[in-house]
Amino acid sequence: MLIEQIQQVMRDCGQLMLQADRSRADVETKGRSNNLVTKYDKAVQDILREKLLELVPDAHFVGEEEDVHESIASGKAFIVDPIDGTTNFVKDYKASAISVAMTQDGEVELGLVYNPYLDEMFTAQRGKGAYCNGKPIHVSDQPLEAGLTLYGSASYYPELIDDSFRLLRKAFDRSMDIRRSGSAALDLCTIAAGRAELYFELRLQPWDYAAGSLIVREAGGKVSRVEGGDIDLTKACSVLATGSKVDASFLH
Ligand code: IPD
Ligand code: CA
Ligand code: CA
Repeated sequence: MLIEQIQQVMRDCGQLMLQADRSRADVETKGRSNNLVTKYDKAVQDILREKLLELVPDAHFVGEEEDVHESIASGKAFIVDPIDGTTNFVKDYKASAISVAMTQDGEVELGLVYNPYLDEMFTAQRGKGAYCNGKPIHVSDQPLEAGLTLYGSASYYPELIDDSFRLLRKAFDRSMDIRRSGSAALDLCTIAAGRAELYFELRLQPWDYAAGSLIVREAGGKVSRVEGGDIDLTKACSVLATGSKVDASFLH
């Protein structure tokens, strides 16, 4: 089955991340000085492009480390973040993941996120539920007062910092505590697995959330923009993900 073949490719890439010689990672910056890319981001993406297109030759491929992005509007497309949590990877913080989504005519059909450090493979197929290492997962049914807020600082976009911390303070006041993992893909899977109740970030790129958004929805959770309205896979947008009993309207 295709989803199993994709998992194998991602597990192989995970081995490459675990065995990386980070002292020779060729760390470069993209745009802002806090936006990093290493030779491992590029190597993982090259493997994913080659192997995924072997599996589905007529698919388009959209990878974070690509200069030009193909359209996902019609037909099949892969939307890939080779290493989500590159700063963590450079720091050896051990909280990074590989994220692969497959879309059909712009809609996510398959979502997979692999955390090689915990050997956790999150998967979802549209309409068929969400899984972690083959076991069904569900979002939390706790209200936010008994829950955790996960926060992404949108740190590549200085113009969003004030709003971002203002909303974080509101969420902090309404929940037990906050966490910041450094990987949006893992944050979404943490919501899907019922380990936290609310996640938000004011700007993400489609490769950060394409796979994770399907995993949250298939686990019974809600995904939207922070200001309300549906997320858009064709451009950057804010992302809000919650468990089943969280009213996040205070963020709008
Ligand atoms: C980043 C991570 C981080 C989030 C950023 C993303 P990258 O992705 O997901 O948690 O806060 O907005 O860009 O650059 O490590 O692939
Ligand atoms: Ca990312
Ligand atoms: Ca990345």
